[in-house]
Amino acid sequence: MNLFKNNFLLTTILCLAFFVSCKKETIEPPKKETYDAEHDYTGLSEMEKLGKKIFFDKSLSSPAGQSCSSCHNITSGFADPGHPFSKGAIASLMGNRNAPSVAYMKYSPSLYYNTVDSTYMGGFFWDGRVNTLEAQAIKPMLNPIEMNNANITQIVNKLKVTEYCATFTNIYGAGVFDDTLVAIQFAASAIAAYERSFQVNSFTSKYDAYLNGEANLTAQELSGLNLFNDTAKAKCANCHSSTKDNIYGLALFTDFSYDNIGVPHNPSSPSAGPDRGLGAFLANPSLYGQFKVPTLRNVALTAPYFHNGYFNTLEEVIRFYSDRDSVGLFPPPDVPQNVNKDELGKLNLSEQNVQDIAAFLRTLTDGYKKN
Ligand code: HEC
Ligand code: HEC
Repeated sequence: MNLFKNNFLLTTILCLAFFVSCKKETIEPPKKETYDAEHDYTGLSEMEKLGKKIFFDKSLSSPAGQSCSSCHNITSGFADPGHPFSKGAIASLMGNRNAPSVAYMKYSPSLYYNTVDSTYMGGFFWDGRVNTLEAQAIKPMLNPIEMNNANITQIVNKLKVTEYCATFTNIYGAGVFDDTLVAIQFAASAIAAYERSFQVNSFTSKYDAYLNGEANLTAQELSGLNLFNDTAKAKCANCHSSTKDNIYGLALFTDFSYDNIGVPHNPSSPSAGPDRGLGAFLANPSLYGQFKVPTLRNVALTAPYFHNGYFNTLEEVIRFYSDRDSVGLFPPPDVPQNVNKDELGKLNLSEQNVQDIAAFLRTLTDGYKKN
C-alpha cells in the first residue's frame, strides 16, 4: 500500500512535471514583431527618407556614437527623456538647456516682432536664435558639446562613405560631394524635409481623434481641457493654443511667443549664472529670461520640463503655475526681471484641478489607438 502510494505520488509528480514543462513550451508567447520606428520609411519621399537616415546616423559625430536621435528620441516625442541636460559625443561635455521636441516645429515662423501682441514670436532653439530648420540642422553637428565635428569638410567626408551616399547622388546629381558647402546644404535640406514629414508631425493623439469626432475624452480629461482653456482659471491656452482658431489654423499647443515664467535655476546646470534666453540673444534687458513657448504635444513623454529641465513631472509643473507666488514654496526665478505675473503664479488650482489638467495633457501623445 505504502509502495503503491509512493509510486502513485511519484507518477503524479512526474506527470505534473511533464505537464508543466510541456505547458511551459506551449504557453511561451509567439515572438512579437516589435515595431521598428527608426527603420519605417513608409510614405516618406526620397528626400525625407534620406533626411531620416542622416537624423539617425551615429557615424556623423566625433567620436562616432551620437546622432540627432540620441537627444531627439523618436519614441519619446523627439526629446531626450530623463535628462535635464544631454551629454555630447564627448560625454564629459554638456549644454545648459534641455533638449526640446523637434516635432511640430515645422510650423514655427522665423523670429519676428508681433506688434499686435507686443511679443517676439518664432525662431528655433529656446531663444529663437536660428531662423529655419535648414540653418538649425548643421549647428549640432559642429557644436563641441554636441556632435563635435571640427568643420563642414569633416562631416561631408563622413557622408561620402555612408551606406546611403548613393541616394545623395541619385537625388542631387553625381557632383554633389565636389563642393562641401553644397553637399552640407543638401544634407541640411534632407534633415529639414524629414523634420517636416508626417512621421514627425502626425496629429494622431487622442485629443486629435476627439477634435475629429472619433474619440471621447473621459470626464476627468474633459474637466482638464476646460480648465486648460479657461481664461479666468488655469489660462494655459493663452500661450499653448488648444484649438485651430489661430493664425496657424492648427492646435499646436504653442503660439511660438516668448515669456519669462520664472523657472528657478537648476542646481545641476553646468552653468552657475542665469540663462537670460531671448534677452541675451537680442541683447535686450526687457526680454531677459524669456524663452519660447514649447508645444505640449507628446509632453507626457518628454520629462523633465522647461528650458533647464527643472521639474520632473507634469503635476509639479502645474503646481508651479498655480502656486509660484506663494511664499516659500519654490526657489526664486533664475532671472528675476520680466517675470509674467498676470497669467500665472497665483491660479489657486485645487489638487483635483492639477490632476485633471495632467490627465488632459496625457491625451496629447501621438499614436493613439481606439480600444
Ligand atoms: C547632445 C544632444 C543633442 C544632439 C546630438 C542634437 N540636439 Fe537638437 N537640441 C538639443 C538641445 C539641448 C536643444 C536646445 C538648445 C537651445 O535652445 O539652446 C536642441 C534644439 C534643437 C531644435 C530646435 C527645436 C525648437 O524648439 O526650436 C531642433 C530643430 C533640433 N535640435 C534638431 C537637431 C538635429 C537635426 C540634430 C542632428 C543634426 C540635433 N538636433 C542634435 C540637443 C541635441
Ligand atoms: C504666459 C504664457 C504661458 C502660459 C499662460 C502657460 N505657459 Fe506653459 N510654458 C510657457 C513658456 C514660455 C514655457 C517655457 C518656459 C521655460 O522653459 O522657461 C512653458 C513650458 C511649459 C511646459 C514644459 C514643456 C516642456 O517641453 O518642457 C509645460 C508642461 C507647460 N508649459 C504647461 C502649461 C500649463 C499646464 C499651463 C496652464 C496651467 C501653462 N503651461 C500656461 C508659457 C506659458
